[in-house]
Amino acid sequence: MKKYNNHKNIVLIGMSGVGKTTIGKYIAEKNNMEFMDTDDIIVSNNNNSIDNIFETYGEGYFRDLEREVTEDISNNKGMVISTGGGVVLDKQNIYNLKKNGIVFLLSATIDNIFDNMKSSYKRDDKRPLLKDSSDLKQSLKKLYEDRKQLYFSSADYIVDVDNRKVSQIGDEIVSIFDNLYPCD
Ligand code: S3P
Repeated sequence: MKKYNNHKNIVLIGMSGVGKTTIGKYIAEKNNMEFMDTDDIIVSNNNNSIDNIFETYGEGYFRDLEREVTEDISNNKGMVISTGGGVVLDKQNIYNLKKNGIVFLLSATIDNIFDNMKSSYKRDDKRPLLKDSSDLKQSLKKLYEDRKQLYFSSADYIVDVDNRKVSQIGDEIVSIFDNLYPCD
């Protein structure tokens, strides 16, 4: 039985490297919910990596795909939705996600995000905005400064992820959600 079948979606936003996918999967598994990741859907719909999409068609094209996918999955209910770090760049995305969803911002310091990403970002094929950076920490700082206001204004709830276990973070999100929408 799906516990949150007719409930709103749990939507996770935040910078690359804060753990949206890992935490989203944890919540979905523990609560028998379906998990969706906007980046994964873009990759599978286009049979192409995010890196290649950026390189071949440009960022604007990727944002168009992101907008279409976000609009589409926002019609679902009772799902855990993990989004790409740039989803907040378009107000329409947040408007769509909020239609059936509660938006949780996963918030971390740049130092912690840097630690999470520093060993893998060069090999990554889904973060073209950071991959070619000669100074990852600086690039993360710049991206965060540019988007900080959008992240905070888009969020219904802000959840601190620094130095906390995936289970602690995931359970906190579910407990907020449970209080809003108690299960029968
Ligand atoms: C992006 C973040 C990526 C991916 C794309 C653009 C961004 O997702 O959507 O590379 O603009 O910050 P993650 O947040 O999962 O890294």
